[in-house]
Amino acid sequence: MVRAMPPRFYLATSKTTGITRAELAHIAAWIGADPHYTRPLPTDRPGLVINVENMRLFAPGRKPAPWHPGMAHWRLRRPSDRLPEIMGVEPGHSVVDTTLGMGHDALLLARAGADVLALEQQAPILFYTLDGMWHYRPDLARNIRAMNVEHGVWLARAPAKSVDHVFFDPMFPRDKGGESDTWTTLRTVARPGPRLSGPVLLDAVRVARRSVCLKLAPLEPAPVIEGAPPLRIDGSKRLHFAVWDLTGAAPQ
Ligand SMILES: C[S@@+](CC[C@H](N)C(=O)[O-])C[C@H]1O[C@@H](n2cnc3c(N)ncnc32)[C@H](O)[C@@H]1O
Repeated sequence: MVRAMPPRFYLATSKTTGITRAELAHIAAWIGADPHYTRPLPTDRPGLVINVENMRLFAPGRKPAPWHPGMAHWRLRRPSDRLPEIMGVEPGHSVVDTTLGMGHDALLLARAGADVLALEQQAPILFYTLDGMWHYRPDLARNIRAMNVEHGVWLARAPAKSVDHVFFDPMFPRDKGGESDTWTTLRTVARPGPRLSGPVLLDAVRVARRSVCLKLAPLEPAPVIEGAPPLRIDGSKRLHFAVWDLTGAAPQ
């Protein structure tokens, strides 16, 4: 399948970081971005600017955005969270979060005691989010390993029944209104592509021992995937999930 190319990022620093040109070029090479040494910054493509305190994401037409925990901040203040509950995550379970994004869900899964492997196909987003998560909650970030890989590729190569849970939160098809700034910015820099294909879901069902969970867009119907086990819909009207329970016992 031919996939659309993601936009190429630039990487710049503010003057005060003390990062040299050679170091900037080195970091840019790691994340597949173009080092940018001068001002003004490009306005036709996304970029990251490293400051002393944080990193800011520049997306065309959007305000520069430092990583922030968004709703995860409030979710972490509650004693428990619906996502790990719905998936049946318990301390010590392994969870593959196939769509790291800003890492909000990964933080909640880590707080539930899971050992999280997070996958993200955009290396600059991975870099930005790991930096943000480590500043915000190093105690949780240390339980989140991350890899720059397309999740279909990772799942196709993973052995059967090798993790407890697989979670998907692909970009919603388009902004249906009410989307926060974070997601609108992420949408402008994400690689365009299919939301979730049948073969990828079937691979997740093969790889997981306990559950596969897909976050659905508001009002989105459950996907119909031939060959997949029965699913249940869980959550609220605003936030609901398709869950394939592979243990035979649905969590309460
Ligand atoms: C909606 S965001 C995920 C938000 C995340 N759950 C959070 O709490 O911040 C989707 C992210 O998944 C990434 N993504 C989409 N398709 C992917 C794929 N096939 N493989 C790996 N990452 C993917 C996008 O680049 C984007 O960063």
